Amino acid sequence: MLDKSIKPSSIVRYLDEFVIGQDEAKRILAVAVYSHYRKIEHARRDAVAVAKSNILLIGPSGTGKTLMCETLSRFLGVPFVTADATSLAQTRWVNDEIEAILQRLLDKADGDLARAERGIVFIDEVDKLKAPTGQARGTSGESVQHALLKIMEGAPVRLRSERYIDTTHVLFICGGAFVGLEAIMSKTHGYGFISVSDEDNQNILDRLNTRVKPTDLFEFGLIPEFTGRLPIVATFQDLTRPMLVRIMVEPRNSLYNQFREILTNEGVELTIDGRVFEQIAELAFEYKTGARSLRGIFEEMMTPILYVVPDRDDVVKVEISSLFREPTFVIGKR
Ligand SMILES: Nc1ncnc2c1ncn2[C@@H]1O[C@H](COP(=O)(O)OP(=O)(O)O)[C@@H](O)[C@H]1O
Ligand SMILES: [Mg+2]
Repeated sequence: MLDKSIKPSSIVRYLDEFVIGQDEAKRILAVAVYSHYRKIEHARRDAVAVAKSNILLIGPSGTGKTLMCETLSRFLGVPFVTADATSLAQTRWVNDEIEAILQRLLDKADGDLARAERGIVFIDEVDKLKAPTGQARGTSGESVQHALLKIMEGAPVRLRSERYIDTTHVLFICGGAFVGLEAIMSKTHGYGFISVSDEDNQNILDRLNTRVKPTDLFEFGLIPEFTGRLPIVATFQDLTRPMLVRIMVEPRNSLYNQFREILTNEGVELTIDGRVFEQIAELAFEYKTGARSLRGIFEEMMTPILYVVPDRDDVVKVEISSLFREPTFVIGKR
């Protein structure tokens, strides 16, 4: 099922082509996903039930959580769907919504039930399910957690098409920003519970100490059974300005590459000064939406150029030297 050549390290290498930074999260996810699909294979052979380890991704919005899961599923060649916990809490028919999510997974697998049953479901904003939500009409966050718990544990779910989908081997990845969790953690963490000696590796101690504990999530407002189903936790870091710059330039499908491609198709070369990326990163950083605002700023800069270029067959090259200056149109013969 999982290609024999796939190893956690090759998963990370592939992720590196599309996702900037988040090295620790990449490794945790790679190992988790690798073990998950290995376990399924063994479960088949030996018919021994193995507990599934679903994953929780904690980190600010726009730092690559969805992108990472998407990229991962593409590499593994498994069907992938995303859903929003907030919208689950806004409906009174939460089980219908869950059924619809699994139906989408089946659609992504082109109706192949066996493929869908080893797909990945990403549920974002689970931090919004903390109790109480104050939602009068919808379903309370806590009942949504219970409903999700059932399918995360593994259950046959009847779809509208009258078919049953078994979620036992579906990998669930939950995500959320968990604003306020750090305060809870700094309150409860400390070396108090482990004895430290000089021989102990400080890095390992630090890692243990910054680990998100189930009790932290419980105090945050998730029910224990739900956190218990998410034993693997990966934390995503805030993106720095240099990371924002790299995001615009480095990935295979980076914004820079996308717009160069568009202009190449017009027979025009595009060059953008390194300084421009820094200026855009600076603005995006101020917006505090991770990498989300990069595209908008980039599009705004490119729109006047994309408007003019098709009318100008004397232009062979466009140079942008500053976000705050008009671009230079280089004239030549195409
Ligand atoms: N670490 C990253 N590397 C590359 N691109 C990123 C990264 N983080 C965010 N992005 C860009 O920002 C967009 C939004 O990111 P997303 O993965 O949806 O964030 P999240 O799910 O953490 O809120 C993505 O489509 C991607 O273009
Ligand atoms: Mg997201």
